[in-house]
Amino acid sequence: MSWKNDQVSRAETEKIIGLAKSVLDVEGDFVELGCYKGDTSLLLAEVVYEYNRGLLVEKSVDKVVEEVWKSGGKDVEETTGEKVRKRLWIYDSFEGLPEKRLEDESVLGEAFRAGELGVTKREVKERFLRAGLPVPVIKKGWFADLTGDEMPEKIALAFLDGDFYESIRDSLRLVASRISSGGVLIVHDYTNPALPGVKKAVDEWLKRQNVDYQIVLL
Ligand SMILES: C[S@@+](CC[C@H](N)C(=O)[O-])C[C@H]1O[C@@H](n2cnc3c(N)ncnc32)[C@H](O)[C@@H]1O
Repeated sequence: MSWKNDQVSRAETEKIIGLAKSVLDVEGDFVELGCYKGDTSLLLAEVVYEYNRGLLVEKSVDKVVEEVWKSGGKDVEETTGEKVRKRLWIYDSFEGLPEKRLEDESVLGEAFRAGELGVTKREVKERFLRAGLPVPVIKKGWFADLTGDEMPEKIALAFLDGDFYESIRDSLRLVASRISSGGVLIVHDYTNPALPGVKKAVDEWLKRQNVDYQIVLL
């Protein structure tokens, strides 16, 4: 699949996909909190799909894709009865960004306003169908309202891209204890001066952590 993303640079995307490939054998699923229109999600879905395909040998890949497509996007396991090794879970308000807090204020970040980056869950789902990829688990909601029940039990890769202080703080609360040993936590915009809340939330969290997985701050 070709690269096209107006939120994450090409170099960052390559880094994320490289990391995804490096943790395929780590226990747990992939999650992205703040998926927006799904540009990075599509690439992560492709990595997961390729990995799962290793177990879908009895049925041709074309057949699986055709079945998933016809079913309107049920996942591969449900459609074919085959065991899926890894899943992708993606999360968003699908109402755009929330309100900023004081921690997020920056003259460079004035374009990031509440309601920006709005897209519907349906539009995102349709992009997977058009790409011929199994639709991931897509959860709509504010991160502050999500509970552990809406997360995979174990996570091999977590990509956090919520832009604001509370969004990253709440994402960390949801994923941190579920990341497997040897897995990876990626936080986008940590070094972005337009979004200072991201660094603040991560730095506060890091002070309290002792982790056995990789932390990558982009
Ligand atoms: C920069 S975009 C994500 C870009 C995406 N990761 C990509 O690679 O294309 C940030 C997304 O996070 C979502 N978001 C930010 N804070 C959120 C929150 N607290 N709860 C739910 N969604 C949130 C926004 O709706 C927006 O779609």
